[in-house]
Amino acid sequence: MAEVKASLICGVVVAFLSSAVLAVVEDLDDTFKQARLDDVWLVDFYAPWCGYCKKLEPIWQDVGAELKSSGSPVRVGKMDATAYSGIASEFGVRGYPTIKLLKGDLAYNYKGPRTKDDIIEFANRVAGPAVRALPSKQMFEHMMKRHDVLFVYVGGESPLKEKYIDVASELIVYTYFFSASEDVLPETVTLPELPSVVVFKDGAYFTYDEYEDGTLSSWVNKERFQGYLEIDGFTLYELGETGKLVAIAVINEKDPTEESSRLKTLIQRVAKEYREHFNRDFQFGHMDGNDYINSLIMGEVTVPSVIILNTSNEQYFLPSEPTETMEQLVQFINSVLNGSAQAYGGDGIIQRVKRVAFDARSTIMSVFRSSPILGCFLFGLPLGVISLMCYGICTAESDDSADDIDLLKREGLTDEEEEEEDERRRAHELEGPEDGENEEEDEEDLEEKAPEEKKMD
Ligand SMILES: *[C@@H]1O[C@H](CO)[C@@H](O)[C@H](O)[C@H]1NC(C)=O
Ligand SMILES: *[C@@H]1O[C@H](CO)[C@@H](O)[C@H](O)[C@H]1NC(C)=O
Repeated sequence: MAEVKASLICGVVVAFLSSAVLAVVEDLDDTFKQARLDDVWLVDFYAPWCGYCKKLEPIWQDVGAELKSSGSPVRVGKMDATAYSGIASEFGVRGYPTIKLLKGDLAYNYKGPRTKDDIIEFANRVAGPAVRALPSKQMFEHMMKRHDVLFVYVGGESPLKEKYIDVASELIVYTYFFSASEDVLPETVTLPELPSVVVFKDGAYFTYDEYEDGTLSSWVNKERFQGYLEIDGFTLYELGETGKLVAIAVINEKDPTEESSRLKTLIQRVAKEYREHFNRDFQFGHMDGNDYINSLIMGEVTVPSVIILNTSNEQYFLPSEPTETMEQLVQFINSVLNGSAQAYGGDGIIQRVKRVAFDARSTIMSVFRSSPILGCFLFGLPLGVISLMCYGICTAESDDSADDIDLLKREGLTDEEEEEEDERRRAHELEGPEDGENEEEDEEDLEEKAPEEKKMD
């Protein structure tokens, strides 16, 4: 009898717990459009058939549970964007899953890695005040320790402060914004005037100057990274959004040669010592291994070496001789800046065709690598058909048959390449998610790597 009772109680407790767990993520429907204005919402717009959405599902439950237990005011929901496509398209949902934080009538897109901690950090940052006050010296020091890049408005009420708040409420998707009075700052900080907007980073501080730096928002956008970074595909994509060129030491960290560390140090020094000259136009860093860069430029860079990328137009620059000294490196960067360096790559029509062929080739190679039989079946069959057709065409008329073959081949390759979207992830990381006709697939390609992006709907 006691056992039955115990198991009954257990059952009730389990049922209660599981319903509590379920409730941390609310299933949203039509009524959400009105209801959302009363609260801050973090919403996962998903499609039932999408694989990345299924992967996100347990993480989303954890996010809901943790936000709830930490007493956050953010409510967590999910909406089947295929069932409520009207609402989803009003929110600008174009790929799945799309994560948005909705606050008042503003909607912020989350594009960072889909991990619990990253999503929660984003939700807490964006849901909170756009500008956070630093009331004491201790608080300032604490934040200096926590953040590599710290934006602070210093001074009282002013038109600059209003501008700062505007910029902050838009760019809070990228970084935190603080305000403080002058006596909270360390004594070593001397500001030429008040009020000021200051960024603390790289062991120094830099002040915004309206005349030299343009709009506050473009300045924040250019200053929101450390001067020197370890760069991966995701960071490179993020850096591209600042509009700066990216100068990278391509090295092998697992097997660091003397040459490697010398090159790394050179770039580090240029980033620091030539900040005045180059900071406006360049971001500096190093990248481990050349795989990523190789697929980006559809070629092969030597390791170690220096490469400068223009992520806006996919051009790149290589030094004409090995970089031995600081002077050589500075000269190379200057020559890119004044337009005298030879540019490679680009986003012209020839490069695009090359990209299609390159992607198709990597797709075919990766399919063959993982499953030769499937590869034979997938590509052998169409190629056989194409060869037969070509044969037919060739024997029918001999004039411009060469062109036809070329065309047929290209079409054949493109189709297969679209079937294997996954493999194209790297190739597309440099193109913005707004770019290209395959928006949904692109967003999924970016998968865990796409950065958060401001969206003011
Ligand atoms: C980088 O690309 C942008 C966009 O095409 C262009 O305006 C800019 O001049 C390029 N920068 C260099 C140094 O080539
Ligand atoms: C561009 O910069 C390089 C390197 O500093 C220099 O050698 C070259 O003369 C410059 N060219 C022009 C056109 O200014």
